[in-house]
Amino acid sequence: MSTLHVMDHPLIQHKVSLMRDRETGTKDFRELLEEISMLMAYEVTRDLPLKEVEIETPVCRAKTKVISGKKLAVVPILRAGLGMVDGIMNLVPAAKIGHIGLYRDPDTLEPVEYYCKLPADVEERDLIVVDPMLATGGSASAAISFIKRRGCKSIKLECLIAAPEGIERVQKDHPDVDIFVAAVDERLNDHGYIVPGLGDAGDRLFGTK
Ligand code: PRP
Ligand code: URA
Repeated sequence: MSTLHVMDHPLIQHKVSLMRDRETGTKDFRELLEEISMLMAYEVTRDLPLKEVEIETPVCRAKTKVISGKKLAVVPILRAGLGMVDGIMNLVPAAKIGHIGLYRDPDTLEPVEYYCKLPADVEERDLIVVDPMLATGGSASAAISFIKRRGCKSIKLECLIAAPEGIERVQKDHPDVDIFVAAVDERLNDHGYIVPGLGDAGDRLFGTK
C-alpha cells in the first residue's frame, strides 16, 4: 500500500489558507502555489540517494556527501500542474520536465487525454507527478497509468489539496505510488469540487474565469 504524507508544516498550512481565500487574486495565487510546491518538494525528495565524495575545504581534505546523480523528472498534469513546476525546479534544477494534458469532462467527470510528452529516458527516471487538486482522483490515476505504460516504475504524486475519495482512488489503482499532500479536505460536492477546497485551480492560476 502506498504511503500518504500530509505536510502539515505551519508555513504550508498558512499559505494554503491564503490560497483558499476567494479574495486572493491570480498573482498571489500563482506565487503561493510555487512557494508551497517548493516547500513540499523538500519532503518529496527526502529519500534521494547520496554518495560520498572527497573535496578540499579551505581547511583540509574532507569526505562529504552529494546527491548521487539519480535522474528525476517532474510531470505536471496540464493545466494547473504547471503552477507547481517552477517551485520544484528551484530545488532540483537538473530534473527534466514532462507534460501530460488531461481535462475532466464536466458531465462525466472522466479524464480526457489530449497531450503527452515525456523525457525520452523516462523509464530510468524517478517521476514526481504534480497537480494541485486531487478530487475524484480520475485525472491523477489516468496520468499515472499513462506514464507507467511508457515504462516508468518509480512515481510519486505531489498535490496541494486532496479529497478522501481521490486518495482512495489513487491508492487502489496505484498502490506503489506515494502521495504527498498539504491538506486532506472533507469531501467532494455534487460537481466533483473539493469542499472546502479552493475552487477551480486552473482558472484561479491563469485568470480564466
Ligand atoms: C483539475 C485539477 C485536476 C483535476 C482533478 O483540472 O487540476 O487535474 O481537475 O479532478 P479529478 O481528481 O476529479 O480528476 P481540470 O480538469 O479542471 O483541468 P485544468 O487544469 O485544465 O483546469
Ligand atoms: N478541480 C479543481 O480545480 N478543483 C476542484 O475542487 C476539483 C477539481
